[in-house]
Amino acid sequence: MSTIDLNRRGLFKAGAVIAAASTISSIPVVAQAAEEPEKKIRPLTGKNLKMKDVLDRAREMMMPRCYVCAECNGRGPCIGQVPGFGGMGANRSFQANYDALAAIRLNGRVVHGVHVPDTSFDFFGNKLSMPVMAAPTGGTTYNMGGHLTEAEFVTAICGGCTAAGTLGAVADGIGDPLNVFEERLQTLKSKGFKAIVGLKPRRQQDIIERMKIAANAGVVAFTIDLDSAGRAARATKGQTVEPKTPEQLRELVKASPLPLFFKGILTTDEALLCLNAGAAGIVVSNHGGRVLADEPGTAEVLPAIADAIHGRCMILVDGCVKRGTDVEKYIALGADACLAGRHFVRGAHGALADGVELFANTIRNELAVAMTLTGAAKVKDINRKMIRMTTPPPLAFGVPA
Ligand SMILES: Cc1cc2nc3c(=O)[nH]c(=O)nc-3n(C[C@H](O)[C@H](O)[C@H](O)COP(=O)(O)O)c2cc1C
Repeated sequence: MSTIDLNRRGLFKAGAVIAAASTISSIPVVAQAAEEPEKKIRPLTGKNLKMKDVLDRAREMMMPRCYVCAECNGRGPCIGQVPGFGGMGANRSFQANYDALAAIRLNGRVVHGVHVPDTSFDFFGNKLSMPVMAAPTGGTTYNMGGHLTEAEFVTAICGGCTAAGTLGAVADGIGDPLNVFEERLQTLKSKGFKAIVGLKPRRQQDIIERMKIAANAGVVAFTIDLDSAGRAARATKGQTVEPKTPEQLRELVKASPLPLFFKGILTTDEALLCLNAGAAGIVVSNHGGRVLADEPGTAEVLPAIADAIHGRCMILVDGCVKRGTDVEKYIALGADACLAGRHFVRGAHGALADGVELFANTIRNELAVAMTLTGAAKVKDINRKMIRMTTPPPLAFGVPA
């Protein structure tokens, strides 16, 4: 399909579409400046949907922000698209997440007594159906094309996750005024969904103010994506973000009415700083490659971080979680549970809460199969004996391994 075809089909209003070489030959690369697609296409509705139909509709809804490539590996037309759905620079941090996961193999084991494994996971007293929750993803307009309102998006992500027995997530965009954040939380509260709230590394008092608002709205835990500090340049007036010192982390932990996770951790020394600050946990994450080019994939750094933390706080991880096998790999490497970002967003655009629920149930069923075929009766039974590396992890130099 050419860009002209797309225009003819009314997917773009005007011809500000630039075709360029693409790694996917049938899909044109579209400039960031392309006008937004018309907002006539709506998500599918109804139960008994097939994942393929949901993804086809998501593609129609989200282009040119996201082409819903068959394999979301950072090598599609989204390269460099931030804001948007891609990553920084040449998308290499995004690709590193995918490649590091792909380099791990599962040791199939078939001589054991595990029939139907228990995929459930306890998250601070909440029994979840699986060790996968939604990652905070913000910016329905500037990142996703503006097809869903904030209320629709929050309802889709958190409603779908709730229906599938897990937790959704609500984000806090750097440039969003306080009332936008409050509206999202109001939606969550009015529907009675439980979720994680992802806060930005704003000034201390601004974070604490948002913690208080969120704590009143069915929220289970907070994340603060410390790695968003680098995006201070894009913050709007009065909405500044900043890197945090260990003392500031301690102050935030003390002020938090709920378990607090520091997100964006990629080295053992910073994981230990978070632990020592009293964090309930960390999120090993390179933000889907969206904050700094050429960072490692999370599966590369996770084992050393897990060894250093040694069970003293919870470890969440994200990066290209699409399948149950991805979840098993991350847990075998040392995570307690995973967050999934882009794939939940696609489910939401394809079929609102039904699409999100379908994605969540699919990944849970796949995890159950992976656990049976590696001999893990419970999530806690998943261990490093169940995986092998196809290539040795890259040498770490300059930072503690
Ligand atoms: C469109 C988009 C918006 C995001 N917004 C946020 C955010 O507001 N807060 C945050 O902590 N992470 C944000 N992230 C990062 C995700 O939480 C997650 O770390 C990242 O996408 C990696 O997961 P994935 O590979 O499953 O997408 C965003 C990611 C995307 C793609």
